[in-house]
Amino acid sequence: MDDRQSLEGWTKEDICAHLGDDYDRFHGAVVPPIFQNSLFTRKTVNHGYTYTRVTNPTTEVAEKKLAALEEGEEAKCFASGMAAITSALFSVLEQGDHVLCPKSVYAPTRGFLEIYLNRFGVEATFVESESVEAFEQAIRPNTKVIYLESPVSNVFSLQDLSELSRLAKAYGLTTIVDNTWATPMYQNPIRFGIDLVVHSASKYLGGHSDIIGGVIIGRKEAMTQIMHRERGMLGGIMDPHQAWLLLRGIRTLPLRMREHQANAMKVAQFLEKHPAVSRVYYPGLPSHPQYELGRRQMSGCSGLLSFVPKGRGEQIHAFMKGLKFFEEGPSWGGFESLINSPGLGISEEASRLTGIPSGLLRISIGLEKAETLIDDLDRGLYSLSKGREIG
Ligand SMILES: Cc1ncc(COP(=O)(O)O)c(C=O)c1O
Repeated sequence: MDDRQSLEGWTKEDICAHLGDDYDRFHGAVVPPIFQNSLFTRKTVNHGYTYTRVTNPTTEVAEKKLAALEEGEEAKCFASGMAAITSALFSVLEQGDHVLCPKSVYAPTRGFLEIYLNRFGVEATFVESESVEAFEQAIRPNTKVIYLESPVSNVFSLQDLSELSRLAKAYGLTTIVDNTWATPMYQNPIRFGIDLVVHSASKYLGGHSDIIGGVIIGRKEAMTQIMHRERGMLGGIMDPHQAWLLLRGIRTLPLRMREHQANAMKVAQFLEKHPAVSRVYYPGLPSHPQYELGRRQMSGCSGLLSFVPKGRGEQIHAFMKGLKFFEEGPSWGGFESLINSPGLGISEEASRLTGIPSGLLRISIGLEKAETLIDDLDRGLYSLSKGREIG
């Protein structure tokens, strides 16, 4: 937000419900309208809008809420999380630069850093994300960016945001954090000195598995440049209808996150005690190796976790197929529970490079009743342990 004063006394719930819903400006409409137009004419009045690839009043309402939720100065919405991530990286990188990144980062982000940017002479080093020392040791004279994702995809290890931001400042590096997992409800990286925060809005921010979107939040100067250069020139802007659906999702974000968290905690505790499960990966469990760090930098946890069941590949496939309330799919953060299998069939080499253990299953805990999900998993795990098909 430009005007920080106006947010005094606002809670995150208030921001989600009301910030930017300017009733006077929108004829008293309790829900801001969708400005479904590409062009804004200005023969008689200059409203400050020109073309929807640059700005749009509906998208701006979502951006106001997201900037305020992340405690940043400005936010800019994108057509997808990947459009936001690639634009954030393009905004700071030049030919010959070097990037540091945790090794278990979201696979397309890794692909962009490792393969795509390599064509332009940018190199990346993927490090053990738990260790600040590993980041420091990997810094080179041409390092420009520390790109983080905390908790990191699939195995949910954390990076120390405050220490890494201190390290980056000491070496004059830019820090970017993918904050999709924790959402701005439970983690605000800018508080720890992080420069740019990115999200896939296709997950919890949207929350209904009906949009693809992304956002970058940061300081006004950086965001103005991103608006004109990376978003304006590469053109990956969110469309107004998507922004309107995103706004609808944001209104219920606080209560959805409370439910996702409560459900996921119950499921994680159930899985942790189950004899057919060898390991659970969830930062909300006191047994998580970085539980204390998580408590310092996050005020809660979302509903995405993973576990390794005991069994052979085909038995684990049968277990997944037999579940009633977990559809199989790679996304997460919606109202529906999902399962996918990043660790099934993974080669030893890929497992070593990404940190994903063989047999790992990832589940996104939705808004069904926790007991329903636990019963479903319990039935499946019982059959798995007996080596039978689920009946
Ligand atoms: C951690 C993380 N970041 C970014 C993305 C990319 O988001 P999108 O699918 O909106 O491009 C995803 C998508 O799964 C993700 O899991």
